Amino acid sequence: FDTGNREKFRPTYHFSPLYGWMNDPNGMVYKDGEYHLFYQYNPYGSKWGNMSWGHAISQDLVNWKHLPVAIAPDALGTIFSGSAVVDFDNTAGFGAGAIIAIYTQNSDRQVQSIAYSTDNGRTFTKYENNPVLTSEARDFRDPKVFWYESTKRWIMVLAVGQEMQIFSSPNLKDWTFESRFGEGQGAHGGVWECPDLFELPVEGTNDKKWVLLCNLNPGGPFGGSATQYFVGSFNGKEFVNESPSKTKWMDWGKDHYATVTWSDAPDNRRIAIAWMSNWQYANDVPTSQYRSPNSVPRDLSLFTVDGETYLQSAPSPELLALRDASKKRSFKVNGTRTIKEMIPSNDGAYEIELTIENQHADVIGFRLYNDKGEEVDMQYDMKEKKFSMDRRKSGEVSFNENFPMLTWTAIEQGGNEEQGGKEALKLRLFVDKSSVEAFGDGGRFVMTNQVFPSEPYNHIDFYSKGGAYKVDSFVVHKLKP
Ligand code: FRU
Repeated sequence: FDTGNREKFRPTYHFSPLYGWMNDPNGMVYKDGEYHLFYQYNPYGSKWGNMSWGHAISQDLVNWKHLPVAIAPDALGTIFSGSAVVDFDNTAGFGAGAIIAIYTQNSDRQVQSIAYSTDNGRTFTKYENNPVLTSEARDFRDPKVFWYESTKRWIMVLAVGQEMQIFSSPNLKDWTFESRFGEGQGAHGGVWECPDLFELPVEGTNDKKWVLLCNLNPGGPFGGSATQYFVGSFNGKEFVNESPSKTKWMDWGKDHYATVTWSDAPDNRRIAIAWMSNWQYANDVPTSQYRSPNSVPRDLSLFTVDGETYLQSAPSPELLALRDASKKRSFKVNGTRTIKEMIPSNDGAYEIELTIENQHADVIGFRLYNDKGEEVDMQYDMKEKKFSMDRRKSGEVSFNENFPMLTWTAIEQGGNEEQGGKEALKLRLFVDKSSVEAFGDGGRFVMTNQVFPSEPYNHIDFYSKGGAYKVDSFVVHKLKP
């Protein structure tokens, strides 16, 4: 899509605002062939402030059309995060099929308001009796609303300090408190924000389970913002976590926050998108006309390892359509193997698909780098069963002391029971000018990190320690904007 200007770090196939600051994705809803993406937006500058809902639409989740600001501040406050639904049955009386946005307004307090659109999201009218839900609580925000068929009620999950509160309503206007969730559950290193709650089938079974997404800031595994989640059940009133003693992270990088999913996506898909930054340094990243893109879209599912159910985030299939010229190689690595040119005229937007057979190596490493000596080093440590990504020398890193970092994750949960040299390791890497997203084992682990190299990484060194390994297939796809 046309981004209007060409800053060197502006991604080509990730969504970023044309001008100005962006944080959380908001109000994601699908209707009549269009994916709507609203987002926390400052139309007047590239740092946080003047929060409004920016708006874009897409038919394929990768090509976006920018639309005017959808919801702007008013006397009740600026417009914070929230969600949107299609009111098919006209429960609110704004018209059958209206898109209704439910959002927080921030002033000296936080309240929930609604606005409706009867022209497929092109214009919104604020409800005259806003706000629809108030409280004494200081942190009372980010409503996620969905329809719960068996009780015929709208359900709202709201982030309140360090817990989630659940409310219900017949009409989106009158809300009743149902329950709270949080004490003694998961990570509490910071405030809980931007919830989501949905049901997913469990792979390989006829079961379904509910997933509660809970964004947390600070207190993530590598500092600052991150997304944790809980798996369990929901009965229209209460969410019950099936494994209260476990903390589960959705992504193991530093730049994956405010993750929420689309309402009413076709084919029962549950598609998530995250803001690709971290509150530790989001206002300092070295871009100027805009700040911070979103992650690529990810299709969610559930899988079980040793009786524990986890969330899998696979790159959405729409991303396959971006593939342009590609080149496949296979080779053995014993020591170091250098590939001088990954792609001719590399503009920094590409996907790498790797299939590796571990023969005897303790460490399976690869290093993306450029002629300036800037690099992103990734390793599978086969002894420790870990995958890591090191961006400490990735380019500009000194703008904030919390930026340089090595992030890592255990890979057992990736489920390759027979690893130890037999099962192939599979990894997909999405690189887009200023970000690297690693999807291991089809998304059983994910790691999202921003990087700011002065030129694209076009070389790669594969290296081995403690034995050799075979790269069955190393494919680099140039990705079309
Ligand atoms: C999360 C968040 C939300 C809030 C919004 C304000 O990143 O802090 O809790 O609604 O950003 O922009």
